[in-house]
Amino acid sequence: MATISAVHIFAISLLISFLAIQFTHAEEYNFVKSIDQKAIKLRKQKLSHFRFFWHDILSGQNPTSVTVVQAPNNTTTFGFLNIVDNPLTLGPELSSKMIGRSEGFYASTSLEEVALLVTMNFVFHEGKYNGSTITVLGRNPVFDKVREMPVIGGSGLFRFANGYARARTYTFDPNTRDATVEYNIFVMHY
Ligand SMILES: *[C@@H]1O[C@H](CO)[C@@H](O)[C@H](O)[C@H]1NC(C)=O
Ligand SMILES: *[C@@H]1O[C@H](CO)[C@@H](O)[C@H](O)[C@H]1NC(C)=O
Ligand SMILES: *[C@@H]1O[C@H](CO)[C@@H](O)[C@H](O)[C@H]1NC(C)=O
Repeated sequence: MATISAVHIFAISLLISFLAIQFTHAEEYNFVKSIDQKAIKLRKQKLSHFRFFWHDILSGQNPTSVTVVQAPNNTTTFGFLNIVDNPLTLGPELSSKMIGRSEGFYASTSLEEVALLVTMNFVFHEGKYNGSTITVLGRNPVFDKVREMPVIGGSGLFRFANGYARARTYTFDPNTRDATVEYNIFVMHY
């Protein structure tokens, strides 16, 4: 009798641990599993360079950039917030071919200088890039000659994107604060 129950106990504990392993695997499988890159059509990673002009239009009848929060103290710009839906064009003139928009916001976040926290989704309208987006989030000290901001991701053809954007002011009107900025974006994507 004693030997039978020992065998029983051994068998039952074996069964329990077997079920536990099965259960763990089943849970793991439902929540996360590794898949082949080809299953989501990821081919070779490539590096692309995009160049265009970004128009921050605050003046006139149809501004594309609006100040939704004013700086609380007139002596600095610190604290203002602009929401933008700015056109992106091939050339520096607003009349040149529009290739997409830049939607997002920028806020003045430095007490020391005019430096912005920039959060923007660049959405392209051109050819195979139509509807794909690149997201940029970074620091933009606007009076520096060239400002660099990280590309933190993307959608569509820019899934898994990373890289950086370089912004260089082309024109700036201190009265209206209208600006045209050249953007060069270097992005790794599939
Ligand atoms: C604005 O900032 C200046 C300089 O820091 C300060 O002297 C002044 O009191 C501030 N004004 C207000 C209304 O907070
Ligand atoms: C900012 O300046 C304007 C005039 O230039 C003045 O009317 C206003 O009260 C000032 N605001 C603050 C918070 O200092
Ligand atoms: C981009 O896609 C939208 C709808 O998804 C379509 O209306 C538009 O014509 C497309 N533009 C180009 C240039 O292909």
